[in-house]
Amino acid sequence: MQQMGIRARLKEDIASIYHRDPAANSAFEILTNYPGMQAIWLHRISHKLWCRNWRLSARLLSTFSRWATGVEIHPGARIGRRFFIDHGMGVVIGETAEIGDDVTLYHGVTLGGTSWNAGKRHPTLHNNVVVGAGAKILGPLEIGEGARVGSNSVVVKPVEPGNTVTGIPARTVISKAEREKEHRRTHLAKKYGFDAYAVSPDNPDPVASAIGSMLDHMHLIDARMSEICQALKEQGCSVEISQLPELNVTAFVDAEQEAADSRRKEHERFDPGI
Ligand SMILES: CC(C)(COP(=O)(O)OP(=O)(O)OC[C@H]1O[C@@H](n2cnc3c(N)ncnc32)[C@H](O)[C@@H]1OP(=O)(O)O)[C@@H](O)C(=O)NCCC(=O)NCCS
Repeated sequence: MQQMGIRARLKEDIASIYHRDPAANSAFEILTNYPGMQAIWLHRISHKLWCRNWRLSARLLSTFSRWATGVEIHPGARIGRRFFIDHGMGVVIGETAEIGDDVTLYHGVTLGGTSWNAGKRHPTLHNNVVVGAGAKILGPLEIGEGARVGSNSVVVKPVEPGNTVTGIPARTVISKAEREKEHRRTHLAKKYGFDAYAVSPDNPDPVASAIGSMLDHMHLIDARMSEICQALKEQGCSVEISQLPELNVTAFVDAEQEAADSRRKEHERFDPGI
């Protein structure tokens, strides 16, 4: 890890809290009122002591930190930069846990073990993971980069990068691929002025959905084509890289919008009491 001065590290931590907590008002407030921040700084000292084999001093300091902040981090745990524990109270991080950069935990999170055997027995959280309040992640599992764990979930299996998991036991509710698809849909909806997949989510039109899927597919092919052209050009081939003509679907958009409005009105007119 890149060596940084204490001042720079402190500034970086304060900035990351500002970025992630809209309730934060000033650096002084963060320094004095964020137990998560205090626990991380005490952990950095206890971890140094632990690595130098001053094990008892390290444990004493981490126990003091637990008493003062309500956050229990074993001095052996390895934690990256800009780690943020919001609210703090009730967080437990085990000895062999590993945490990447820009990870956020809320209160009541446990990164625990399920075995009494020595060795790696706690989870590894990669960069940008968010773990909701009260969630428990148990065992030497990998939680992939950018994954999100819903509050009060119990995670007992590894989580793929970018996925969102919830429940007991935690299951994937949103995969990275679905999220990317959703982004593309929103982008298309903005571009064409409507959501071709379902103008009314309660009453989707299968024709609009099919056309939406085709537009989505074409959009992907367009993007892939320009990547290929760009790569060929870089290899010295003479390929013309020009914007493809815009798809003009205005007539379809208007007709679909009208149909969706009439479906919605029909739906609102329906009186189940009759
Ligand atoms: C998991 C989480 C990150 C998902 O957020 P999101 O991407 O906005 O996803 P959504 O809210 O659209 O939820 C997706 C689905 O998961 C369900 N879900 C979300 N959080 C859940 C949870 N903790 N437990 C069970 N199901 C949950 C939703 O009901 C939804 O189900 P549906 O598709 O059947 O309607 C978020 O819900 C969460 O728990 N964040 C932690 C926040 C927290 O702890 N805050 C504490 C502040 S003090």
